[in-house]
Amino acid sequence: MELVTLRDLLPRAKKERYAVGAFNFNGYEDAAGILAGAEEARSPVIMMASQGACQYIGVYEAAGLVQGMAKRAKVPVCLHLDHATDYDLIKEAVKAGFSSVMVDASAKPYEDNIRESAAIVRFARDYNCSVEAELGKVGGKEEHIVVEDRSATFTDPAEVPRYVEETGIDALAIAFGSVHGFYKSEPKLDFERLAAILKLTDCPLVLHGGTGIPIADIQRCITMGLAKVNVGTELKAAFANTIRKMCAEVSPDEFDPRKFLKPVKAVCAAIVKEKLTAFGSAGKA
Ligand code: G3H
Ligand code: ZN
Repeated sequence: MELVTLRDLLPRAKKERYAVGAFNFNGYEDAAGILAGAEEARSPVIMMASQGACQYIGVYEAAGLVQGMAKRAKVPVCLHLDHATDYDLIKEAVKAGFSSVMVDASAKPYEDNIRESAAIVRFARDYNCSVEAELGKVGGKEEHIVVEDRSATFTDPAEVPRYVEETGIDALAIAFGSVHGFYKSEPKLDFERLAAILKLTDCPLVLHGGTGIPIADIQRCITMGLAKVNVGTELKAAFANTIRKMCAEVSPDEFDPRKFLKPVKAVCAAIVKEKLTAFGSAGKA
């Protein structure tokens, strides 16, 4: 199958009140695990490479890897560039065949955020690539983007309609209490804010910082109309912990890297299957 875009996935999810899971990968093993989990759940899936992952793997290499996986996949796969602040890298990813990108101009003033996100939308359109952008600032640390608690700003509902209209984006990342990385204290989502934003726009909304939020809270957001949920740190930790475990378990005489790496796929698949089932997208492929 060819890669699909957010436009192919999110409007339907919003209408039918489920969310499509979006998962960060950093190499072959976790990427294969994400797809295996989605296939087990018979769910569409969004595979995300962050700007850092693209710099590590290579933009064309990441595109080639996931395009290759998608060819024989039994479920729709979207390949999404996550939290990109480098516009040259975004353009390279679009040209390389990513079916979706996130332009993150959330640290910029409102007018600049609109102008720069709109320019990416215009560029991506010619390649049938969808675009997500962010309004407000999600707190925590997402690789090169660090937002201290005092600088995190919730999305102002009043700013949403003009932002969506003038950028022409396909999905909107909003800040309403979730945080990137592990939570230092109990996450507190602002459901009223989410409700207010949902009333003001038809644009599918995205929850960032999915790791560590109680599933019941995520499900409440989805029932209200949230359409995409991002999960990264939980998979990263599972990847690292599995390698640590295998290094302790495998004989010191072993030198086949696959002996250490193979279990990562199953561990990631189990997490992804569980999330997709909780998000209501199992069986929607
Ligand atoms: O864009 C990526 C996600 O928002 C990941 O957040 O690492 O806290 O799960 P997380
Ligand atoms: Zn994020």
